Amino acid sequence: MCGIIGYVGSRETLPILLKGLSCLEYRGYDSWGIATIHKGAIAIEKDIGKVKDIDVPAISSLLKGTIGLAHSRWATHGKVTRENAHPQTDADAGIAVIHNGIIENYAELKNELENKGYLFSSETDTEVVAHLIRDSYKGNLREAVLCAIRQIEGSYALGVICRDVPDRIIAARNESPLVVGIGNGEQFIASDVPAVLEHTNRVVYLENGEVAELSAERVSFFSLDGKEIEKEVHTITWNAEQAQKQGYPHFMLKEIAEQQIAIEQTINERMTDDEVLLPELLMSEAEVKDIKRVIIVACGTSWHAGLIGEFMLEEIAKIPVEVEYASEFRYRDPIVEKGTIILGISQSGETADTLAALREAKRKGARVISIVNVQGSSITRESDAVLYTHAGPEIGVASTKAFSSQLAVLYLLTVFLGKIRGVLPLQQVKNRIRDLRLLPLQIQSMVDDTTEVERLAARFSATQHALYLGRGINYPIALEGALKLKEVSYAHAEGYPAAEMKHGPIALIDKKMPVVFIATKDDRTYKKIISNIEEVRARGGIVIGIVSKGDNEIVAKTDYHLIVPKSSYILTPLLAVVPLQLLAYFIAVKRGFDPDKPKNLAKSVTVE
Ligand code: G6P
Repeated sequence: MCGIIGYVGSRETLPILLKGLSCLEYRGYDSWGIATIHKGAIAIEKDIGKVKDIDVPAISSLLKGTIGLAHSRWATHGKVTRENAHPQTDADAGIAVIHNGIIENYAELKNELENKGYLFSSETDTEVVAHLIRDSYKGNLREAVLCAIRQIEGSYALGVICRDVPDRIIAARNESPLVVGIGNGEQFIASDVPAVLEHTNRVVYLENGEVAELSAERVSFFSLDGKEIEKEVHTITWNAEQAQKQGYPHFMLKEIAEQQIAIEQTINERMTDDEVLLPELLMSEAEVKDIKRVIIVACGTSWHAGLIGEFMLEEIAKIPVEVEYASEFRYRDPIVEKGTIILGISQSGETADTLAALREAKRKGARVISIVNVQGSSITRESDAVLYTHAGPEIGVASTKAFSSQLAVLYLLTVFLGKIRGVLPLQQVKNRIRDLRLLPLQIQSMVDDTTEVERLAARFSATQHALYLGRGINYPIALEGALKLKEVSYAHAEGYPAAEMKHGPIALIDKKMPVVFIATKDDRTYKKIISNIEEVRARGGIVIGIVSKGDNEIVAKTDYHLIVPKSSYILTPLLAVVPLQLLAYFIAVKRGFDPDKPKNLAKSVTVE
C-alpha cells in the first residue's frame, strides 16, 4: 500500500528520502510527499503523480535539513489530490505525520476533534492522527504519539516529526509493516527493507502496538503502555544491488529473467540426490503422519500457486487439500479439526487478508505454516513454521519469480511429506528431485531467447480481450496468464478451465478473439485440450498454443505457438508460466505502460 521512509542523522536528508521513495514506490504511486525540519520549521512539499516526476531541483532548496519523512500514497480515504497526499499536519504545521493503513474509527475521532475546535483541511483519516497528537502534546512527542495511538482503531504504520523536537522521529505500528534501520550515527524507518539496504543491513521489525523513538545516535523501543523494551536486531542478507534494475528496462523483466537463480537459491540447500530436507518445518515424523488435511490460504498470484500446490500435495503426498482466498476464509466459520495444517502463501508476508486468515486459523487451533519471501515479515512472525522462498527482493508489482519459487517450495514440501507418509518410494523421490534439478536451466532457456514472444506481443498489442484456457494442473496457469495480462497491460483477459469454455466463454469467440491454450503434452488432458482447440477453431477464434518442445501435432492446430521444454506433468506449470509472463510484459511495454507500476495496484496489500 503506501510507502514510508524516514531519516534522522547528520547527512542532508532529501537525497536519502528520494532514493528511499523510489525503492518504495511500488507500494503506492498516486501521490508523494516529503517533510523536513530546518531552522525551526517543518517544510513540506507534496503533489499528485509519480516519484520519478518530482522536480528535484525545485524542491531541493525548500527541503533542507538532516531529519525528514517521505511517503508515496495508494489512496484509501480521500481522492488523489495534493491536499490528501501525506504528510498531514496539525493546524499550524508543527507536527507532520505519514501513515500507511486505515484508521477505522476516524469519523468518530474527527467529530470529537472538530467539537474541540480542530480544523481539518484534507479528507484523509491520517489528518486525525496529526490533530490527536497535537491534542495530547505536552512537550513529550513520544508520550503524545502513544496517547494518540491508544485512541486509534485500525491499522497503521506511522512516522511523526515535530517542530519543537527537531532531532527525533517517532514511529509506531499496528498491522501495517514498519522496519527501523539501525545505522552509524543515523537511523531510518521504512515500510520495508530494500528502502534502507543501501545504508544499513541491520534492521528491527516493529511489532503491533510498539513505538520507536529515533535520534541520530540511538533508537529506543516502547510498548503501548509506554514501557521501554528490548528488540532483536536482524541482519539482512540481501544487498542493495539486488533491489536495483541492473541494466534491465524494468524490474518485471529482470525478475522474470531471475527465475533460474531464484529457484536454485530456493531448492539447492534443501535436497540431496535422494532426500528433501525441510528441518524448518519443525514437525516430527509422527506429526507429519498425523496430517489430515491442508488448507491453503493466499491472495492473487500466491493463490494461484496454492491451486497448483493442491494438485501436487493430493497427487503425490496423498493429502486432502483445499485452497481458499484468504479474504473469504477469514469471514466464514471454517472448520479446523485436529490434524489440519493451514498453509499461508505470500510473497510479501504482509498481505492483510492472508495474515488475518492465518490468525483466525491459529485461533481455532490449527498449526500454521507459511511460504513467504520477505524475511521477518508479519506472516513469518506469526507462523509456527516458515518455509522461505529465496527469490530475493521482488519489486515489480506483478509477481513472477516469487510465484515460481513458491511452486518450487510446494513441490519440495510435497516430496518431503510424501516420503515420510510412506506414499512415495525412494526411486520416485529420486526421480522427482532429478526433474526439479533440471528445471532452472529449462526456465533460463526460455528467457534467453524472447524473439517469438516479442513477435507475438507486437501482433497482439492492440487486443482488448483474450481468453486463457488450461486443464488439470495447467488450469491455474491459465488463471495466472490472464491475471498477468490484466495487471500490466490493462487488456481484459479471462482464465478458464478449458472444458468449461462450452458453458459460457465460447459465446465470446469470434475471429478477433485470441485464445491462449496451455497445451503441453501429457497423458491426461492432452487429447481433451486438442478437442477444445478444435472447438475454438471451428468458431474462427485465434489459437495461441503454449506447447511442448517437439510436439508438431499440436503446432499444426495453432495459429501461433510458444514452446516450453518437456518436464514431468507436475512441474509443467513452472515452465508454462514463463512465456505467459513474458507475453504480458512485452504487450504492456508495446502499449506504452510501465509494467512495474500498473495503475491502481500495489505490491503489498496491507489493508483489507
Ligand atoms: C497484490 C500483488 C500481487 C500479489 C498479491 C498477494 O495484489 O499485486 O502480485 O500476488 O498482492 O501478495 P502476497 O505478497 O501475499 O503474495
